[in-house]
Amino acid sequence: MVNRRNFLAAAAAATGAAQAADELAIQGGKPVRETPLHARFFGPLYYDEKERQQLNEVVETGRPFRWYGPGNQPPMKVLTFEQEFAARMQSRYALAVTSGTAALQTAVAALGIGPGDEVILPAWTWHSCFNAVVLAGALPVFAEIDESFNIDPEDIESKITPQTKLIMAVHLQGNPADLDRILPIARKHGIRVMEDCAQSVGASYKGRPVGSYGDIAIYSLQLNKTISAGEGGAVVTNDPLLFERASRFHDLGGLRPPHEKELGRGKAGWFIGSQFRLNEFSGGVLLAQLRKLDRIVADVRANGARVYEGIRDLPGIRLRRLPDPAGELASAVFLGFDSKARRDRFMAMMKAENVPVGPPGGSVILPTQPHIENKVTVHPAWPSFTSERGRAIQYGAACCPRTIDILSRFAGPSLDPKMTRRDTDDIVAAIRKVYPRV
Ligand SMILES: Cc1ncc(COP(=O)(O)O)c(C=O)c1O
Repeated sequence: MVNRRNFLAAAAAATGAAQAADELAIQGGKPVRETPLHARFFGPLYYDEKERQQLNEVVETGRPFRWYGPGNQPPMKVLTFEQEFAARMQSRYALAVTSGTAALQTAVAALGIGPGDEVILPAWTWHSCFNAVVLAGALPVFAEIDESFNIDPEDIESKITPQTKLIMAVHLQGNPADLDRILPIARKHGIRVMEDCAQSVGASYKGRPVGSYGDIAIYSLQLNKTISAGEGGAVVTNDPLLFERASRFHDLGGLRPPHEKELGRGKAGWFIGSQFRLNEFSGGVLLAQLRKLDRIVADVRANGARVYEGIRDLPGIRLRRLPDPAGELASAVFLGFDSKARRDRFMAMMKAENVPVGPPGGSVILPTQPHIENKVTVHPAWPSFTSERGRAIQYGAACCPRTIDILSRFAGPSLDPKMTRRDTDDIVAAIRKVYPRV
């Protein structure tokens, strides 16, 4: 029965509960979630009988090698993956390789980049980008990032010299780089563009897949990426000569009949290549995964949209810059702060709410890595650093102060495509609770 005394007691209890829920968990209040929320690896969340069937077929036919095997039928998994990948990425040719790093080395070799050449890349990206340039004997030159966490087009031009042959437009953490500004700079100076889509497989820019804009593009299909066979990579291009050189480089310098058939008669001859052939087990799994790519992308974008919608109206909110908001994967949502101290406070508060957030991830500030700063290579006479320019170039923190500053001021939740509405509601609730009090 509701009398005045009961009513007042209930109201007081409700207010107390609301206050407890409102009190920050870091100060002893009730956390938004009981247990921590963590994003998971995308590809394996979608593994089912389709991947199993692909693997079984390879076991049953005894044809694990991409070019030939027992029986009358040729192995078709890697080749079919290449054809469907090229179509999905709206490029003429695709080459499957063993990793994104192998794809980078292959693309650099296809472009014929080597000693004496310079390559501009962002100061914030993965080791593979720098390593591929150095392993080709060329010289990496860093440019700063902007608040998209991708290469800052404004910083590119000042890094161009007569030796610059390539700009690496890396689409980091699901966010396409600013191609509308990068491509004209490259065109103006007669420099090629490679898109590194390793961290943005399935993202698009102004309505077309990332990777379909540059001279050549690479993708990674390793565990942290949108689709995965554990390891794997791909190179795409519209240029038949680049495809031929890529195919040759990835297979010791020769051109195999299935690719020769695609190209018509090859124009390049043998040259020294490596061995980055993908096997049919991986090809089969990647084919099954590729056929799910659109679903995975739609799912993670839907989760991203819920988080963005839930926090957009917060007074003063500042988000990572998105050159094409409709095209990003939304695999993470980043909030910016005016200082590292505030950003770190935000991270501590969110962790206490059991909705941990992280700084930008999946890359490193390359110029500050000791082995890069000290130009440590396979051999002391490595051609990248023995030229006058190679000896003179300085890496280290002094070459990327803006990159270091930007990355110290952003943090946010990583998302996965199978997070539930409850999960994204918790992310929104925790940010709304914490952000105004950072
Ligand atoms: C931007 C970027 N490029 C290239 C790679 C290399 O890919 P993989 O790990 O498949 O060699 C990665 C891997 O994380 C990456 O993040």
